[in-house]
Amino acid sequence: MDVTVVVPTYNEGPNVAELVRRIASAFDRDGDAGGVTPGGVDVLFVDDSTDGTPDEIARVAEAAPLPVRMIHRERPDGGLAGAVVAGLRAATGELAVVMDGDLQHPPETVPLLVERAREARADVVVASRYLGRGDAGGLDGRYRRLVSTASGLLARSMFPVKLRDVSDPMTGFFVVRPAAVDLDALRPRGFKILLEILARQRLAVVEVPFVFGERFAGRSKASVANGLRYLRQLTSLRFGRMSPFAVIGAVGSVLNLAILAVLQGVGVHYLPAVIVANAVTIVTNFLLQERFVFADLRDGAYRFSGRFLRSFAFNGTEAAVRTLLLWWIVERAVPYPELVQAVLILVAFVVRFVFQTQVVYRPRAARAAARAADRTGT
Ligand code: GDD
Ligand code: MN
Repeated sequence: MDVTVVVPTYNEGPNVAELVRRIASAFDRDGDAGGVTPGGVDVLFVDDSTDGTPDEIARVAEAAPLPVRMIHRERPDGGLAGAVVAGLRAATGELAVVMDGDLQHPPETVPLLVERAREARADVVVASRYLGRGDAGGLDGRYRRLVSTASGLLARSMFPVKLRDVSDPMTGFFVVRPAAVDLDALRPRGFKILLEILARQRLAVVEVPFVFGERFAGRSKASVANGLRYLRQLTSLRFGRMSPFAVIGAVGSVLNLAILAVLQGVGVHYLPAVIVANAVTIVTNFLLQERFVFADLRDGAYRFSGRFLRSFAFNGTEAAVRTLLLWWIVERAVPYPELVQAVLILVAFVVRFVFQTQVVYRPRAARAAARAADRTGT
């Protein structure tokens, strides 16, 4: 086989026939689709259903114009992500396309992804909702979209190098070259298997835009539990960069309080003392981060002065806004300064981390690409 289409399914019976029909016809056009003839494609369902879906898959397989196989898992380890990995292990194609079974991922895009993988000799082709003409329209509700955007931003901040060229690390629609991926190193859980694949090792990645459609039938299986699983996955994939960032932040806080105490001790008013303490710790934090957190990102980012000025401007503003917020919340709503301060510091920690990775240490190549995209209006 040239291409195995891996489709994880959980109670997707009414979608199976339509999905297989459209995959087959996408590869059945005149000429060759992505350099692959219909004879080179098979479909592999990895099914964890609790309903009659397996029977439906078997029924569709009999009449299908291309080979359709199914793995039905009695123990659905790792949920959707585990199903995808099981599919990648069993894929016989040189390339494996992973797509949802509900037709939110248009089968007509599959040959384009395959073609792109071949011409770019990529290990992974990401079908992106957030690139060029791509669109996340099918994500139901403003809330889901917000969550999707925010979690994507967080992921890219935590993996600024590996996800440098990836606008949609959360997509469930992608191509992999199974031979290039160390499947044994993966710890699949939740919904975000692509992120896991990209974060574990360095791979050659390219993207193709696509429009995320509406479900053909049935309901989404996404849940809050899966969202929480995602956060756990992110932190355990990447304790590398965030933990020294946190340690430096903690050291900075202690230093800040010490300066405050000393200055007040020699009779300085608390407001100028706070300003001096903040300024000093912003500078020391920056220098420590340069050395211990972002050393590998310095080449290819702004020059030293550019990084320093951005960092100083942002952190200075952040400290000022945070002080005002503290005062406002304590006066108006929650009369516990320590509690409010603790929450604000936590929020500020995440915001600062995102800013440092996305702006201060953002690779020049990514900035140039973003500018080019803005110009062409794609
Ligand atoms: N085998 C198996 N086991 N399949 C599952 C499981 C499971 O536990 N849970 C869900 N699936 C299958 C569904 O049957 C469907 O084919 C596909 O995985 C996606 O599930 P949906 O329930 O349709 O998820 P969604 O549309 O909300 O989420 C999709 O979009 C996200 C991006 O916003 C998925 O593609 C996610 O992977 C993607 O991150
Ligand atoms: Mn879906």
